[in-house]
This record gives sequence, structure tokens and C-alpha cells, in this order.
Amino acid sequence: MTQITVKVNGKVHSHEVEPRTLLAHYLREQLSLTGTHIGCDTSSCGSCTIHMDGMAVKSCSILAVQADGCEITTIEGLATDGQLHPVQAGFKECHGLQCGFCTTGMIMTAVDLLNQNPDPTESDIRHGLEGNFCRCTGYHNIVRSVQWAAEAMKKEIMVE
Ligand code: FES
Ligand code: FES
Repeated sequence: MTQITVKVNGKVHSHEVEPRTLLAHYLREQLSLTGTHIGCDTSSCGSCTIHMDGMAVKSCSILAVQADGCEITTIEGLATDGQLHPVQAGFKECHGLQCGFCTTGMIMTAVDLLNQNPDPTESDIRHGLEGNFCRCTGYHNIVRSVQWAAEAMKKEIMVE
């Protein structure tokens, strides 16, 4: 077993983990953060996407021990003061989800995408989300949701 310390959604956690424990399993099973979904275990579907030190990563492709000392944000930590993040609000406004299985990964990837490119074209969004699969195939509304969020975030910036 190996001791790790990670800051998850603003709270510091220390645990003993097996060296083979995946970060996705650590978040779900040890921290009960089940908003991070596991759809494949082979880095293919993107449903396990979280932010590690501000970057979107697939948490099934990272060992928990590799996250030692890192700052993690999961879908549970995205809203602030009871206010949905604009990307979450966009998925709600534009019906960007059906069964919801892919949604947390889509949202975490889209937040990173918009942080890096606040004014993406439709093509930028489609390319940015290409590592995330939606089995319900609702891609059109997912792209519209991210476009809605980009506009909302631009307005927020203009208000500040
Ligand atoms: S569960 Fe991580 S990419 Fe599918
Ligand atoms: S909404 Fe069902 S998998 Fe995307």
C-alpha cells in the first residue's frame, strides 16, 4: 500500500492505496464521488474525465499514486455557491443529455476546452470532444450546449 494525499474539490484527502488502484476507482470507491463514471476501463469513452491540476484527463488511465500531491476537480466540484457552471447550465438549457452516462465526462472536457479556447468554432468543439463517446448519440445538442456555454462565459467576462 502507498500513502497518497490529494486535494479533491477543495478538500485534502490522505489514504493508503494499492499501487494498481486507478484514480477513477479511488474517486468513486474511496471518496464516494460517483459522478465520475466508468464506461470502458480502456481510455476510450471519456466518461471518467476529471481535471487534474486544471487539465482534463481520463481518470481510468491514471493511477491514484500518480495523483499524489495533485489538485483534482470532479463534476461534484464544478458548481460554485449553488450556481451551475455555465457548461452545466448549457447542457440543461440545450438538452445536452439523454441517459446522462457520458455527461459528466463531456462537461469536464468542455470546461477545459473553453478554458483554453473561449471562442471555439463548431469544428473546434467537435474536435475537442472527440475523445468522449455518447452512446445515446446526442452529439448535436452536446455541441449546442457547449456553444451556449461559450456565449454565457463571454457575457460573464464582459460583465466583470
Ligand atoms: S472509463 Fe475512462 S475512458 Fe472510458
Ligand atoms: S447521454 Fe447517454 S451516453 Fe450520452
